[in-house]
Amino acid sequence: MAKKAVYIYERFERFWHWSQALLVSLLALTGFEIHGSYSLLGFENAAALHNSSAVLLVVLIVFSVFWHFTTDAWRQYIPTRKNLQAQIRYYTAGVFRGELHPVKKTRRRKMNPIQVLAYLSLKLVIVPLMVFSGMLYMAYRYTYQGDLRALDFLNLKAVAFWHVLGAYLLLLFTVVHVYMTTTGSTVTENLKAMLTGYEELEEEEAELEST
Ligand code: HEM
Repeated sequence: MAKKAVYIYERFERFWHWSQALLVSLLALTGFEIHGSYSLLGFENAAALHNSSAVLLVVLIVFSVFWHFTTDAWRQYIPTRKNLQAQIRYYTAGVFRGELHPVKKTRRRKMNPIQVLAYLSLKLVIVPLMVFSGMLYMAYRYTYQGDLRALDFLNLKAVAFWHVLGAYLLLLFTVVHVYMTTTGSTVTENLKAMLTGYEELEEEEAELEST
């Protein structure tokens, strides 16, 4: 079937995606240095960069939540059972045999049912876990030792445990995510779409989009 370029990712969506990718990479790089996994920038620099990237990430998250609700994009994250079985079959077998994707991407439905579940757990579990534990970590380090005793009750070991667990989950998510982006009709199709906003969709889908 003939294909047509459809504008699928808006400017803000692309900006948010790539700035989030950059900030999470910086946070992972500096976070694991703070953790003691390696020495690259020096502890002080790593901690300073980690803190400023974290503040920027929180600002970005606030804007992206606003964007999701004002554009109605949040509706794309409503889980569905429709095509779920077919999508599981595709990911566990079909993809290795070069079969076609069972769910066609459209501007209004960019994610298949598995992606919906994956992104929903990222946004509702992993990101809040990182932000919440990271903020408690900040509060402990910078208010408790600065003599503000309000957060005296914090158990730093427990906070660090949840923060590091979240960091591993986020890394795992990122590795799987990057691999999955290569399973489009060409290896770089999805990457190009997130860079330019345009993706080649089958004519029939594209027409549905413009109605
Ligand atoms: C808004 C999000 C985040 C906030 C507020 C935050 C905050 C912090 C703070 C305050 C520390 C301690 C710094 C110090 O000792 O001076 C820390 C440590 C750390 N962060 Fe984050 N962080 C965030 C996101 C992330 C992300 C996305 C990752 C990784 C993907 C990450 C990985 C780590 C790791 C591995 C440590 C070391 C923990 C330890 O070994 O005790 N953080 N974070």
